[in-house]
Amino acid sequence: MEETKRQYEYMERAKELLQKKKEELGRPFTFCVQTFGCQMNARDSEKLVGILERIGYVESDSENADFVIYNTCTVRENANQKVYGHLGKLKGLKKKNPHMMIALCGCMMQEAHVVEKIKNSYSFVNLIFGTHNIYKFPELLVTAMESDRMVIDIWKDTNKIVEDLPAERKYKFKSGVNIMFGCNNFCSYCIVPYVRGRERSRKPEAILDEIRRLVADGVVEVMLLGQNVNSYGKNLEEPVTFAQLLTEIEKIEGLERIRFMTSHPKDLSEELIEVMAHSKKICKHLHLPVQSGSTDILKKMNRRYTKEQYLALVDKIKTAIPDISLTTDIIVGFPGETEEDFQDTLDIVRKVRYDSAFTFIYSKRSGTPAAVMENQIPEDVVKNRFDRLLKEVQNIATEVCAVHEGTVQPVLVEQINHQDTQLVTGRLSNNLVVHFPGTADLIGKIVDVKLKECKGFYYIGEQI
Ligand code: 5AD
Ligand code: SF4
Repeated sequence: MEETKRQYEYMERAKELLQKKKEELGRPFTFCVQTFGCQMNARDSEKLVGILERIGYVESDSENADFVIYNTCTVRENANQKVYGHLGKLKGLKKKNPHMMIALCGCMMQEAHVVEKIKNSYSFVNLIFGTHNIYKFPELLVTAMESDRMVIDIWKDTNKIVEDLPAERKYKFKSGVNIMFGCNNFCSYCIVPYVRGRERSRKPEAILDEIRRLVADGVVEVMLLGQNVNSYGKNLEEPVTFAQLLTEIEKIEGLERIRFMTSHPKDLSEELIEVMAHSKKICKHLHLPVQSGSTDILKKMNRRYTKEQYLALVDKIKTAIPDISLTTDIIVGFPGETEEDFQDTLDIVRKVRYDSAFTFIYSKRSGTPAAVMENQIPEDVVKNRFDRLLKEVQNIATEVCAVHEGTVQPVLVEQINHQDTQLVTGRLSNNLVVHFPGTADLIGKIVDVKLKECKGFYYIGEQI
């Protein structure tokens, strides 16, 4: 592709500029990529790392580096606060290292008021770009290297998808793969459609090619990424369903495991359940955000399903795939949420019995319809509901986790255990974590492990 070629040329240019600086100072130049938010951002960061390494920077864990970039999230207000906190610290570091460059990208930069604030209060930042033009990073980097002013490039939206830029994976044996970008759902609390733009699917051939290349490079597990994978392919010139895409991916030899997220309940098809039930490679895990158990609140959230419809869907899934693990996202304190609405959420949690749930306190995002709804819930009431919900979720998760005790399951070994280096840590198909005695040569391999003891959210096991 023409655009990809252009960006590779900018990488060469950036490499030359950096080489000059390295020779002048007689030392390597380091970079640090800090990622906030979701899997989508994590994958974007791998692309940033891939490009920076190609240019000749060396990765560093510390923010005291020559190039620091924050890949930001804005889904909840506290994510924004964290970025401002970090920026405050960077100011001091930059004073000591005049060669330091600071860049900001990601969802938060798609908000005009954020960029305004950075221009006014953090003028030492060198480069700001958004979610739509991340593929232009090499070009923007060159511009920033050649300029002594803040470089800002934010696009409102795009329909462009640029393929084949370098990426450096965090794990050798597993990788995220974007299958689509953006979201068209406009849930009333959510800022994502405004900062990630309209839904765009990658062509199946591009996805399959990328996965084949990843497999040839040692990957055994892929995580297909999209805000709403169940509507994958609907707007392609030649429409393809998500289930059809999965069927094609399954055929790739050498690929062992397929995961995906996120599924919107309203778009989850019978065809997908069917494909999952018969697949040998698709993991027995479904992340199915419910957000609330109250039909009234779901309507106000613009989720387009009722409590009963969600429960019927869960029933259908559990019947077709009995050993499936279900996880979810729940928001408490949405505007107008009554105690009765909240009881409906507790009820759905008890009925579905999730393996785990991410629970969030509703965060008002300006520009979304919910931000101007009446009846915003007082903080103490929300906190109290949040605590009750968390307890319920955790109690159930502990019970659900324990049902596998004593069984033998295939486990993909991911790393040496952080606390005890005699142990390795891996994941079951259903995404639960297990620690067991083992050595580094097991990393990236799938081995059979007996789950000896459930410790609440994870297992202690033994390789057999
Ligand atoms: N407040 C709280 N949680 C939110 N999420 C999205 N927007 C908000 C918000 N304004 C949660 C949803 C979503 C997850 C990624 O983040 O539960 O599924
Ligand atoms: Fe946000 Fe809803 Fe889209 Fe998920 S489906 S990204 S919650 S608007």
